[in-house]
Amino acid sequence: MFPCLCVFIFTVSDSMCNRCDHYNRRCQIRAPCCNEVFPCRHCHNESTSTLRNIYDRHELVRQDVKQVICSVCDTEQPVAQVCTNCGVNMGEYFCNICKFFDDNTSKEQFHCDDCGICRVGGRENFFHCKKCGSCYAIGLRNNHRCVEDSMRHHCPICYEYLFDSLKDTTVMKCGHTMHFECYHEMLKRDKFCCPICSRSVIDMSKTWQRMDEEIEATSMPSDYRDKKVWILCNDCNDTTEVNFHIIGQKCGHCRSYNTRAVGPPVLPQ
Ligand SMILES: *[C@@H]1O[C@H](CO)[C@@H](O)[C@H](O)[C@H]1NC(C)=O
Ligand SMILES: *[C@@H]1O[C@H](CO)[C@@H](O)[C@H](O)[C@H]1NC(C)=O
Ligand SMILES: *[C@@H]1O[C@H](CO)[C@@H](O)[C@H](O)[C@H]1NC(C)=O
Ligand SMILES: [Zn+2]
Ligand SMILES: [Zn+2]
Ligand SMILES: [Zn+2]
Ligand SMILES: [Zn+2]
Ligand SMILES: [Zn+2]
Repeated sequence: MFPCLCVFIFTVSDSMCNRCDHYNRRCQIRAPCCNEVFPCRHCHNESTSTLRNIYDRHELVRQDVKQVICSVCDTEQPVAQVCTNCGVNMGEYFCNICKFFDDNTSKEQFHCDDCGICRVGGRENFFHCKKCGSCYAIGLRNNHRCVEDSMRHHCPICYEYLFDSLKDTTVMKCGHTMHFECYHEMLKRDKFCCPICSRSVIDMSKTWQRMDEEIEATSMPSDYRDKKVWILCNDCNDTTEVNFHIIGQKCGHCRSYNTRAVGPPVLPQ
């Protein structure tokens, strides 16, 4: 009975002193910026982002970490996977560039040289798009609209920086990006166009067909029947002159109702 109890106590204390919501690992890091010890860079970030003095708030640059502290023998040492003192493996996955340790290899971590950071989800499932400046799911290869540095932006819904966000990201038809979760939240609220460029993000042909039928059934008062307006289509970017209707203005080029009224085009003299 005693050996069992011993093992039990050891396991509990081992995980207690590393308590971190982000990773399981057997070391802590010394922050190069403030020289304090933290379980991981997110713990550092959480702790420093709540400091009273806003000038003390800062984020840790992962690549700059030089020293780690083994959680088994407490020895501080230069970053490495295996503790030089007790020989314990401080993280099943280890990246010597990101100074990153994580025991949970089911996340299939990999380091992308072009991104310069570690990502999760398996190297074979991603490719690095040089134009978009980030790793994308393999299904998007030759199958997305490239937007320069598309991921080096904040999510247009929650404003978190996307490039190294821990949450899944989605690439819309227009090539702009946002969190997968934020994207679905947006659709749930019946908003179907990109918050950045206003292009439709899903196939709207059924909706446009319904609007055709509604317009067919709703005749405008005679005063308005011949009223024309210039519209810019958010989907095809064409400017056309169409009949005004209270229900919506249909693009004369691509038939989308995702349009907005504009002034008439300036014709060359
Ligand atoms: C840093 O932590 C704050 C508070 O938890 C969070 O809002 C912010 O997005 C974090 N930044 C990064 C880069 O993780
Ligand atoms: C390991 O990571 C996977 C994928 O993120 C997660 O579902 C699982 O709960 C994690 N396991 C542990 C022990 O943290
Ligand atoms: C839309 O057309 C205008 C005028 O032709 C052009 O300046 C603009 O770059 C175009 N925008 C897109 C997103 O194609
Ligand atoms: Zn890495
Ligand atoms: Zn990459
Ligand atoms: Zn691309
Ligand atoms: Zn978001
Ligand atoms: Zn867009």
